[in-house]
Amino acid sequence: MLDQTRIIRADIYSLAKSYNHYAEVDVHFDERAKFQAALDTRILAYGAGINDYGAKQLAPHMLRAATILRAFCFESLEKTQMTCDNLFEIFKHHDIGKTDEHYKRATIWTLDRAPTPEEKADQKRHAELGPKVIDDVLKQMEASTLFRQSDYILALKGASMYHHERLDGEGPQGLKDSALGPIMKTMCVVDAYDGDLIPRQQQIDRGEIRTPESVVLRLYEDQKYHGGLDPVIINAFRAFLPRLQELEVEFAKNDATRRPVLTPSFP
Ligand SMILES: [Fe+2]
Ligand SMILES: [Fe+2]
Repeated sequence: MLDQTRIIRADIYSLAKSYNHYAEVDVHFDERAKFQAALDTRILAYGAGINDYGAKQLAPHMLRAATILRAFCFESLEKTQMTCDNLFEIFKHHDIGKTDEHYKRATIWTLDRAPTPEEKADQKRHAELGPKVIDDVLKQMEASTLFRQSDYILALKGASMYHHERLDGEGPQGLKDSALGPIMKTMCVVDAYDGDLIPRQQQIDRGEIRTPESVVLRLYEDQKYHGGLDPVIINAFRAFLPRLQELEVEFAKNDATRRPVLTPSFP
């Protein structure tokens, strides 16, 4: 059972700064590597031969979001490199709930129209399903009790469950501002940013081309974010725009299906 109280009290940040993901001497190093490989296999297989959603969209999205989170936390929020590396490793699997067997039709994630209210509600369930998928994978690999209760697993469960929360308590789990730590709030901003930058069929039909700059502005202006995202973090994220534009160019090199190559508008 997920210890929500501990996650809320400790915050992802406290969990993520308590170990070194890359230290081979870490007691959980081998199990963590095995567990992450199992998650990656699961993600890459999801929707294979149907819409290849796991390999073509989900894995690239999570990798981009994790890369942005690591850079932002290190360069703007001045967290330590080790903590930011840990946050990267956690966030690169934050949408693992989308691979739950509840979503037998992987096509629910690649609709060529706006989802119906029922489909939207169903999609939102991926947050609460995150810890369940993590437990399924831990069970399959017969993970030790110590690893199941490790800070890494706890932080990953927290990220998978709370990355769509809103300050006004209207997110999937209903946590409010004071219950969300700063890194959790940052994860919500980063996820919204990367998600909004993914071209959708409806935008293409309208001739709308999104850029890092236009999407950062949407975080302020779009009605759906009002009362949801932390304005202090959005301001810091806006100041980070030159780096977001640089990262976008890097992503486009490896991710041709996802975004057109954008030329940064700064020198
Ligand atoms: Fe998500
Ligand atoms: Fe996401």
